Amino acid sequence: MGNAFQATKVSERIYWVGAIDWGLRDFHGYATSRGTTYNAYLILDDRITLIDTVKAQFRDEMLSRIASVIDPSEIRCVISNHAEMDHTGCLPEVIAAVRPETVLASAQGRKALIRHFHWDREIAIAGDGERLSLGDLTLRFTSTPMLHWPDSMFTYVEEEGVLFSNDAFGMHLATSERFVDEVEPAIWRAEAAKYYANILLPFSSLVTKLLARLPQLDYDLKVIATDHGPIWRHEPQQILRLYEQWALQQPTRKAVVVYDTMWKSTEQMARAVGEGLAAVGMTVHQMPLSGTYRSDVATELLQAGAFLVGSPTINGQIFPTVADVLTYLKGLKPQNLIGGAFGSYGWSGEAVAQLEDHLREMKISLADEGVRVQYVPDAEALAQCRSLGTAVGSRLGEQLVAVS
Ligand code: FEO
Repeated sequence: MGNAFQATKVSERIYWVGAIDWGLRDFHGYATSRGTTYNAYLILDDRITLIDTVKAQFRDEMLSRIASVIDPSEIRCVISNHAEMDHTGCLPEVIAAVRPETVLASAQGRKALIRHFHWDREIAIAGDGERLSLGDLTLRFTSTPMLHWPDSMFTYVEEEGVLFSNDAFGMHLATSERFVDEVEPAIWRAEAAKYYANILLPFSSLVTKLLARLPQLDYDLKVIATDHGPIWRHEPQQILRLYEQWALQQPTRKAVVVYDTMWKSTEQMARAVGEGLAAVGMTVHQMPLSGTYRSDVATELLQAGAFLVGSPTINGQIFPTVADVLTYLKGLKPQNLIGGAFGSYGWSGEAVAQLEDHLREMKISLADEGVRVQYVPDAEALAQCRSLGTAVGSRLGEQLVAVS
C-alpha cells in the first residue's frame, strides 16, 4: 500500500479518509456530471474509530489515506451510519483486514448489513440518543430513519461539535477541495439542490421534523461532515436553512415544460405552451428529453410552481423518455405543482390522456384539459396550446397571490 493518498484534517482529532470518484456519471439513475466522493472519517482517541467506509473499488484509496495517519490495524471500532453500498462496499474486507473489536450500526442498519453481506459476525446496536465513549471523546447517535433509508443514523462528537450526517446535507461533487467554503458557491449550491431533489425530496416531511427536533438534540454544530462531497465547516447552519426551505416545496413562478418529440409537432406545441405561460408572467424552463437527464428535471422542479408534459403517441403509449421521467418523478413525490398535458398523434392518440392520469396520480392539479393534435399543429392548434400555458400560468399566479 503506497502513500499516494493523504488524509485531510477536519478537526483536532478527526481526519477525512474517503475517496474521490472523479469519473462517476451515473449514481443509480441520477446523472452525476461532476462525479462524487465517498467520505469516511477517522477519529483518533483511545479507541481509534472509523466512521463509514467507501465503495468497494475505492478500498485501497481509503486504506492508504488511513495509513497516512495511523496503521489501519489500530482501528478498534467501525461505525456504519448507513448500509447502502457506496458506504459499505468495502466494509467486509476492511473488517477482515483491521479486525476491530466493535462494529456498530443502528438496529435497522444491523439487519441491512446482515442482508447485504450474509454475515454471522456480531454487530453492536447504536440506539437513538445512546452514547459511546472513545476515551476523551464521546459519540452520540441519532436515528434518522428514512433519511434516506430505514437504517440511516447520525453520529455526533460532543466535545468537537462534529456531526457525521451520512447522506444528509451532502452533494455529488468530486473536487480536490475538502471543504464547502473552498468551492465556488454557484457550484455547491447547484449540486446541493440537485442532491436534495433527487435523494431527499420524497422524505421532505421527515426533513422538516428532523430540523424541528434539532434544538432538543442540543448539537453545538461546528462541522457537518457528510458522506458525499465537501464538508461544512464555516457556518454549517446554512445547509440546514436550505433544507428547511427545500422541504417546504413552496411554489414559485417557474414553469417547467418537459417533452419529447418524433417529428417536431410536440416540440412546436411545447413552444406555444411556453409562450402562453410567459404571457402571464411565468418564467419558462423548456426541457426537451432528447438531451435532458431525468435527474435534471427533478432538480428544476424543486423550486417550481408548474409542470407541463408533452408526448407524442407511439404505438398507443407515451414516448419512452417521457414515461421514464414520469416514473422517476412519481417516486420523488414533488408537491404543490399545477400541471397540464399536450401531444401530437397520428391515428389513436392515447398519450395525452395517459399523461393526465400520471399527473393526477402525482396529485398535480390540472388547470385545463390537455391538448391533442393530429399529425402537425396548425395555427388554431398552436393557439390552443398557448391557451393551455396561459391557463396553467394564471392558476399558478392566483395561487401565488393567495399565499403571499
Ligand atoms: Fe450515499 Fe444512501 O448512500
